[in-house]
Amino acid sequence: MEIPEKTRQELIRQAFAARERAYAPYSHYKVGAALLCQDGTIVTGCNVECAAFGVGQCAERCALTKAVSEGERTFSAIALAAALDSAVDLAEEPYPTPCGACRQGLREFVDPEAFQVIMARSLTDCRIMSLEELLPASFGPSAL
Ligand code: THU
Repeated sequence: MEIPEKTRQELIRQAFAARERAYAPYSHYKVGAALLCQDGTIVTGCNVECAAFGVGQCAERCALTKAVSEGERTFSAIALAAALDSAVDLAEEPYPTPCGACRQGLREFVDPEAFQVIMARSLTDCRIMSLEELLPASFGPSAL
């Protein structure tokens, strides 16, 4: 089901706001995510890096972990905003796509055909793909 335009814009707005809170002193690639729960709640996340590099976390899984730890289990969409901190105009940057680990993390909780990934360059310029398109023939909970 299509996300209403107003909700999509709010998700994108919150993803950009979350990106401002990214802690990315090593890669300088700042990412913000806004996850839409089925009850309408929006949970945000940002990437949080660490001097011990492997300990750092992506924005999408930050939002997912926050949401699940607060009792949310059903999600319909996530918006992403990402670019190097040095980027002058995000609208000129590529659409941000989620890494493989984040695709798999989201897969755990969603219907891949229905879940929308909104990759935003600005409030009005985004690319939308389903998780099924981004992670086809995925492995999920029903296999176990
Ligand atoms: N990053 C994310 O937050 N999400 C992604 O889907 C891709 C990568 C972060 C991890 C790291 O802090 C920085 O971007 C560079 O890889």
